[in-house]
Amino acid sequence: MTLACIYSKMEEQRWKVLDAIFAHMWSYEFVPVELIAKRSGMNPEKAEAILKAMSDEKIVVNRQLNYFGSAFTFLGLSLYSLWRLVKWKKIHMLGKIMGEGKESVVYNCYSEKYGEAVIKFHRVGYPSFKKVREKRNYGTLHFTVLAVRSARNEYRALQRLQGLGVPRPYAWEGNAVMMELIEAKELYRVRLTNPEEVLEIIIDEIRRMYSRGLVHGDLSQYNILVSEEGVWIIDFPQCVFLDKNEEKRSEVEKLLRRDVENVLSYFRRTYSIEKDINTIMEYIKK
Ligand SMILES: Nc1ncnc2c1ncn2[C@@H]1O[C@H](COP(=O)(O)OP(=O)(O)OP(=O)(O)O)[C@@H](O)[C@H]1O
Ligand SMILES: [Mg+2]
Repeated sequence: MTLACIYSKMEEQRWKVLDAIFAHMWSYEFVPVELIAKRSGMNPEKAEAILKAMSDEKIVVNRQLNYFGSAFTFLGLSLYSLWRLVKWKKIHMLGKIMGEGKESVVYNCYSEKYGEAVIKFHRVGYPSFKKVREKRNYGTLHFTVLAVRSARNEYRALQRLQGLGVPRPYAWEGNAVMMELIEAKELYRVRLTNPEEVLEIIIDEIRRMYSRGLVHGDLSQYNILVSEEGVWIIDFPQCVFLDKNEEKRSEVEKLLRRDVENVLSYFRRTYSIEKDINTIMEYIKK
């Protein structure tokens, strides 16, 4: 069943239950049913019955610990985020899937305010969460929290980069970011007639982003869109803000260098264009 189809079959009380999970997911890996019941104004038996039905539909995952608790699945979190976008009248129609990967599902959508747009549901897998949990002290948070953080990071990056070659951000709710639809193709899918010029534009974009204090961190031919109209950079969940990472400046510069190297090596392999990375790095940081 499609996301829109599941969405249309959801009853009011289910949204209240999901809303309660969202409110408490920052403190509990599995939110206690008592708290869910209290916040959604129903008795715990009723809340538990709804949670069990939603678990059968893979919207939530329930766990019997020393209490009965519940957490979102990627589907549940995405449904909930969509509900919030609808509630705030940001989105009026959900279209087809435009792209689906390990880290996200991207849909076409329509908004009365913005017209045709794109909605990206962030997904962070459990294995990558485990790695993050080992590095930072994540305590016992559920891994879907990371998908929300990743959406927030992308939304903030797009806001900060307004005016440059990136999609305009329209809204952020939960794990969903709604943004401008760019009518262009990924760099790896097109055969450029003016590769030198496009490479120059990309390097200038990287430079402008850097001067706004941002390093993409996952730049490649897959995250650059091109058309006759121009060049856009997309996919920012892992981007790094320089001002929040002053003490890690050298690590951030390594990331920047890797981004530049990815782009240069693509143009080297595909169009035999040779550029000296050190000269480009100096130019970007100037
Ligand atoms: N604003 C947009 N306008 C048009 N197409 C977009 C937009 N954002 C994303 N897409 C399409 O969706 C695809 C995936 O988006 P994005 O790169 O942001 O996600 P992703 O995290 O890379 O997903 P994956 O897990 O596949 O790597 C893009 O390659 C592009 O085709
Ligand atoms: Mg991508």
